[in-house]
Amino acid sequence: MQTIKYTFQPHGDERGQLVALEEFNDIPFRIKRVYYMYDTLANVVRGHHAHKNLEQILVCVHGSCKIRLDNGKEKKVVALEKPYEGLYVPNNIWREMFDFSADAVLMVFASEIYDESDYIRDYDEFLKFVGVKKDDRT
Ligand code: TYD
Repeated sequence: MQTIKYTFQPHGDERGQLVALEEFNDIPFRIKRVYYMYDTLANVVRGHHAHKNLEQILVCVHGSCKIRLDNGKEKKVVALEKPYEGLYVPNNIWREMFDFSADAVLMVFASEIYDESDYIRDYDEFLKFVGVKKDDRT
């Protein structure tokens, strides 16, 4: 399963680092929402859902965490450990976020505003939605 990880351009100088993210230039969609998670407890797994119509870029702007992406057939774990890296998550992908460091701040840029009806929170429903039979999974 292919995953797209962006490496953003840090504008570093003797004062420190700065990363600028512009819609359509660095983020491949119109940014309608930004949210972030922090103070996540060490053993917590967040997410457990997919979206029908939502693109996201996940950036761990401080600390580290891991993201499990699952298209119904295959799973892949991606570590986010650098504030200049972004993981692209398209629609129809089941995602779980875990292994948060105590200082982790996970920022998410999203193509749509919050809409509970866009969520698929049941894994069997997700498999049905993406047309994957349980036997096809690896
Ligand atoms: P939740 O969906 O449980 O987060 P995650 O899937 O990352 O574990 O969201 C936690 C709460 O925050 C829930 O009450 C919904 C609310 N929320 C918003 O109000 N707006 C948002 O953009 C998001 C992502 C969540």
